[in-house]
Amino acid sequence: MVFSSGLLLFWSLRLPLGHVISEKFLLHANNVFTFVATLRLVQDPIRSIPDVIGVVIQAKVAFARIVKFLDAPELQSRNVQQRHNTGSVNHSVLIKSADFSWEENSSRPTLRNVSLKMVPGEKVAVCGEVGSGKSTLLAAILGEVSHTKGTIQVHGRIAYVSQTAWIQTGTIQENILFGSEMDRQRYQDTLERCSLVKDLELLPYGDLTEIGERGVNLSGGQKQRIQLARALYQNADIYLLDDPFSAVDAQTATSLFNEYITGALSGKTVLLVTHQVDFLPAFDSVMKSYKQLLIISCCPRAKNFRTLSMHTKKQLVLKGFQKLMLCKEKDHLPGRSRRVM
Ligand SMILES: Nc1ncnc2c1ncn2[C@@H]1O[C@H](COP(=O)(O)OP(=O)(O)OP(=O)(O)O)[C@@H](O)[C@H]1O
Ligand SMILES: [Mg+2]
Repeated sequence: MVFSSGLLLFWSLRLPLGHVISEKFLLHANNVFTFVATLRLVQDPIRSIPDVIGVVIQAKVAFARIVKFLDAPELQSRNVQQRHNTGSVNHSVLIKSADFSWEENSSRPTLRNVSLKMVPGEKVAVCGEVGSGKSTLLAAILGEVSHTKGTIQVHGRIAYVSQTAWIQTGTIQENILFGSEMDRQRYQDTLERCSLVKDLELLPYGDLTEIGERGVNLSGGQKQRIQLARALYQNADIYLLDDPFSAVDAQTATSLFNEYITGALSGKTVLLVTHQVDFLPAFDSVMKSYKQLLIISCCPRAKNFRTLSMHTKKQLVLKGFQKLMLCKEKDHLPGRSRRVM
């Protein structure tokens, strides 16, 4: 079989090669097998040439991106004063009349004239229409957005939960610990607070299951809760949570809110971006983002407010927003904070 295919190859090669190769190098019985063997040796490397070209092009693009990243100018975050010492200050986050812009030297900042003061342990909710700058506010506190005006002071360690769940390749446990040492008690408590226990029971190796690119695929809600668990386990002072309930059902969202926000984070400073108005009455203040502005619309936990029923609180919070939206067109000055309630 091998012999006949070699013979076939020989005859198929002989004619065209006869034209190319001079009389001196014509294929004969004594050199054809060497020639075929050599041909076989080189055919695999020749076949892989297109793949190699593809890899080289990819490497060139990746290299250009790395160079662009390394050459990018440093963020001008000189106005963000970040201190880990929380001892002698009476605020966790203090923003004074700041303008934030994603683009350098932009005449139209993403957020204008933001003023915000959060005392340690305070819970503030931010809501508003899509693209109005809620995530930008969190990014600004992290120092990721350049600001042209005003100052930001942050006192304490920050834990951030992004709007798009971010998971690294590794086990669930590694994703939650994120380099911290294992404390069994704290770890178990974190899993319970994030409603992850049932999910882990369904996975083949529990919290040692590999996730990420090379592991099993998790649902959006599971990824989001792993992010929340990672943040909680870090035991930070300030929690910036960007719409963490967007991918979970209403029941899990309520459980997370009770166990995580009002339970585990009871003593922490929390800035939560959310679209779920049901949770707003539980916050110290609620901010509404609207066309580049952030407006403190109401203080649900003000003195008289606490004694009201949950339903009435919700109605009042929503009313506050409506009132705000009605008056904004008429007499709202740009950047001026308006307290409705
Ligand atoms: N990384 C970025 N680079 C440049 N521009 C950005 C970036 N992120 C957001 N923006 C711009 O900033 C503006 C506000 O976006 P942002 O993500 O803060 O809105 P949002 O209120 O969080 O919206 P959503 O409710 O959809 O999450 C948008 O116009 C958006 O295009
Ligand atoms: Mg957002």
